[in-house]
Amino acid sequence: MTFHNLSGEQGDPTAKSSGNAATDKFKNLAAKSDTSPERARAIYQDVFKAIEEIAHKHQITYDEYNVLKQWVIQVGEYGEWPLWLDVFVEHEIEKVNYDRKDYTGTKGSIEGPYYVENSPKLEWDAQMPMRDKDKEAKTLEFKGQVTDLDGNGLGGATVELWHADEDGYYSQFAPGIPEWNLRGTIVTNDNGEYHIKTLQPAPYQIPTDGPTGWFILSYDGHPWRPAHLHLRVKHPGYREITTQLYFRGGEWVDNDVASAVKEELILDPQENADGNNEVTYNFALDKED
Ligand code: DHB
Ligand code: FE
Repeated sequence: MTFHNLSGEQGDPTAKSSGNAATDKFKNLAAKSDTSPERARAIYQDVFKAIEEIAHKHQITYDEYNVLKQWVIQVGEYGEWPLWLDVFVEHEIEKVNYDRKDYTGTKGSIEGPYYVENSPKLEWDAQMPMRDKDKEAKTLEFKGQVTDLDGNGLGGATVELWHADEDGYYSQFAPGIPEWNLRGTIVTNDNGEYHIKTLQPAPYQIPTDGPTGWFILSYDGHPWRPAHLHLRVKHPGYREITTQLYFRGGEWVDNDVASAVKEELILDPQENADGNNEVTYNFALDKED
């Protein structure tokens, strides 16, 4: 096993550009936590206990240890820590924090590395910003209502939507795409309803030409996420939801590399008279704690 560029491809430097863009964005967030020294000690002791168990159970060799060290360095050089962590770790953090019995509203899912705040506001029934080439994909008419837990519509809620283009690229994280392509913020009407047109997204491949891809190859895994829409829904006084929606029967829905699919989040669009896919999804928000 080696983690040197297994693919041997020169080509499009997608991993480096999207990885570094995701790292640059994340570096500018002021991340902080008030973790006490006692809690920090308890956590790191459990981490080292797990490492000890794994080292002995699998009789980890020095060759394997050295490959790990080189790989860790390369993940940093390619800026891929946000990608790798959001694929392999975030789903559990999301469940611990939001998939709780006392939250009965719409389920959350991972944010992933490609959220950007302050996307442009879009009018009722608007089309998401897209290029002519994006318009060749099937149109998805996406509509529904944002409500409280009793089903009362929440007017003035915001539904932020972002997703990849047909080639699996997110604007602002891959070169040559207009800044706000396939990103927008929809404000609900007085009834809490929203209505937007976008394109039917395609499955998404984690960049395979960088260390996250080499990691996946090392265990003969696949780098695919099912087609998905990313959403963040907000209304004052209610708990904000970050989630994703998937498509029934789509490839990789049952085998997401990022383990982020939940049954409640799978859409089943139907073709309408205009030949577009159309789907309704309602978001129910819990009251703020
Ligand atoms: C990654 C990309 C995504 O679009 C996503 O939703 C989750 C993770 C990633 O490349 O890490
Ligand atoms: Fe995504």
